[in-house]
Amino acid sequence: MFGPVGQAKSSSLLDEYSSLLSDAVMRHRARAAEHSARVEAEIANKMKSEFISNMSHELRTPLNTIIGFSKLLAEHEQRPLGGKEVAEYGALIHDAADHLLAIINDILEISKLQSGKYTLEKRQTNIGEILAGAVKSYQMMASEAHVDFKTDIAPDLPTTRGDPAKLRQIFMNILSNAMKFTPANGMIAVTARPSADGGVLIAIRDSGLGMSAEQIDIALTPFGQVDSSRSRWREGAGLGLPIAKALVELHGGLLELRSKKGSGTDVVMAFPADDNVNAPAPAETQSHAALTP
Ligand SMILES: Nc1ncnc2c1ncn2[C@@H]1O[C@H](COP(=O)(O)OP(=O)(O)OP(=O)(O)O)[C@@H](O)[C@H]1O
Ligand SMILES: [Mg+2]
Repeated sequence: MFGPVGQAKSSSLLDEYSSLLSDAVMRHRARAAEHSARVEAEIANKMKSEFISNMSHELRTPLNTIIGFSKLLAEHEQRPLGGKEVAEYGALIHDAADHLLAIINDILEISKLQSGKYTLEKRQTNIGEILAGAVKSYQMMASEAHVDFKTDIAPDLPTTRGDPAKLRQIFMNILSNAMKFTPANGMIAVTARPSADGGVLIAIRDSGLGMSAEQIDIALTPFGQVDSSRSRWREGAGLGLPIAKALVELHGGLLELRSKKGSGTDVVMAFPADDNVNAPAPAETQSHAALTP
């Protein structure tokens, strides 16, 4: 169809088109890369400002309570207060200060855990008793919130080695999340039984909001909260879960989250047999099998 001149012309046209096309592809790629870098930077910025606003809110709320009510108490000569009001304001100040101390302790705890210089006081421990104690603190709250609370702690659990205060802290942190993220008419179930390797397997399940796989990663990161927007109604600093996981691991155990958005969350913890406390945690690949209740 083309003569020699036509052929040369068409091949130079093809060359031209192909170089135009490759330029266009390059430009498109550059734009896409620039766009995704911008989107990533925007997401990072948004997370940073949400984090700062959430933490300021977490710290300011109890501080404002303390400042406001202590002022009223201090001015009681100008504006007399009844005995009931004095007791009520005193209790509010006390609770707010307690809450502030808990946040500060958590911040110190996570930085200590991350520094790798954390030491546990390990002794022979009845883990079932500690779990039952933590459950008791939440049972009343669950019934007030119309959440069904089931407990099944096997009576023949083997003793483990650990730090009772830290074990309690682990269970309280996980139970506090189950309570916080399970709406009325939901369910929380706590089970504990001996594991095949002589340790103890504990599961705390809830029928609450649940999380996607990416959200689980966020939740396990210090200060990470799945919904940290301003509309957030559940308080917290985003430290309970990473602290619990690090403390379980310091006991030589494993903590795993299984969850699906909208279908509740299972937190499964495997504590090793008494003589395994100082053994390193099993490899990631073994964790699933070890944690299957
Ligand atoms: N059982 C759960 N169901 C649904 N979401 C959860 C659950 N547990 C944790 N999360 C999500 O993971 C986030 C991190 O949990 P974590 O316990 O570390 O922090 P927090 O509860 O927000 O605050 P803190 O425990 O420090 O008071 C929560 O804010 C929530 O978004
Ligand atoms: Mg929490």
